[in-house]
Amino acid sequence: MTNLAIAANGLRKSYGDKVVLDGVDLAVPEGTVFSLLGPNGAGKTTAVKILSTLIRADAGAIRVGGHDLAADPQAVRAAIGVTGQFSAVDGLITGEENMLLMADLHHLPRREGRRTAAELLERFGLTEAAKKPASTYSGGMKRRLDIAMTLVGGPRIIFLDEPTTGLDPRSRHHMWQIVRQLVADGVTVFLTTQYLDEADELADRIAVLDDGKIAAEGTAEELKRLVPGGHVRLRFTDPAAYQGAASALREATLLQGPGSARAGDTPLDESLMLQIPSGGSPRELRSLLDWLDAAGIEAEELTVHTPDLDDVFFALTAGGDVPHQPEEAVR
Ligand SMILES: Nc1ncnc2c1ncn2[C@@H]1O[C@H](COP(=O)(O)OP(=O)(O)OP(=O)(O)O)[C@@H](O)[C@H]1O
Ligand SMILES: [Mg+2]
Repeated sequence: MTNLAIAANGLRKSYGDKVVLDGVDLAVPEGTVFSLLGPNGAGKTTAVKILSTLIRADAGAIRVGGHDLAADPQAVRAAIGVTGQFSAVDGLITGEENMLLMADLHHLPRREGRRTAAELLERFGLTEAAKKPASTYSGGMKRRLDIAMTLVGGPRIIFLDEPTTGLDPRSRHHMWQIVRQLVADGVTVFLTTQYLDEADELADRIAVLDDGKIAAEGTAEELKRLVPGGHVRLRFTDPAAYQGAASALREATLLQGPGSARAGDTPLDESLMLQIPSGGSPRELRSLLDWLDAAGIEAEELTVHTPDLDDVFFALTAGGDVPHQPEEAVR
């Protein structure tokens, strides 16, 4: 059996009479990325704070890095690094000074502290900006500095609370590379995110937190299988063939699964694509192909799409701390 970097059983936390975590179990194997997903207010940050010893749980058994969190919080602290949802960067001092401050906090000897700071600044593309006040950094640079600071003590387990919120696509991809590099070095990453593609991209396992409980847990593929939403896409090159197929499909209620065939939806029009609800099983595909054949429809390309994590998220979570909207509006 693989060792668990993080194991929590029956985690509970309330603020006043508001129950935030209502019996949460988590198991994160060493050297993997675990992603906690959930709407605003679901309790992700609360979970991170508890697991990283910043606040106390009301109940639950927790082991982090092999140490019992209640009995030996110091040992847990020595094993972990935390990058909070809100930056720990001090804007009044330079990036380098922020790093050296962290080195001091970790009691690194002066020379080693300087070396570690320089190495990490280099690794995170911040060498050029190192001598500038951190307040002049872009959001992406601040986020990178934040993580670089987290790594000063060489933690084996790191908690990243929404590391890419507000970053542009390039910076997000850069952050993903950083996470992958950490994992390649054997570090365990506990990641919270609002971005489902991020969990899909990075996480070995994903847990969806909703209403204080884990609504579902598994690999991205396992979670996607929990919800309907699969479809088949037909791509055409000939506009006439496309039009013919679109009207034939619109007439053929036979083919429509739950919901309606999205034939002729405007976003797909220009690309000459038709989208047909389908679970994608061989039987469904065969009957679709037979039908297309009989109708004389020749598509250029057929692709099967399984549901993505967005579908899972909407299906499993109630909508967090925002006022509830009608189902249609949410979708
Ligand atoms: N110190 C506190 N006192 C009272 N309530 C709190 C406190 N901290 C968090 N809460 C409440 O606990 C719930 C969970 O908050 P938490 O910050 O863990 O959510 P989150 O999943 O991280 O949300 P987000 O996606 O917005 O970051 C929220 O309803 C929040 O208002
Ligand atoms: Mg949060």
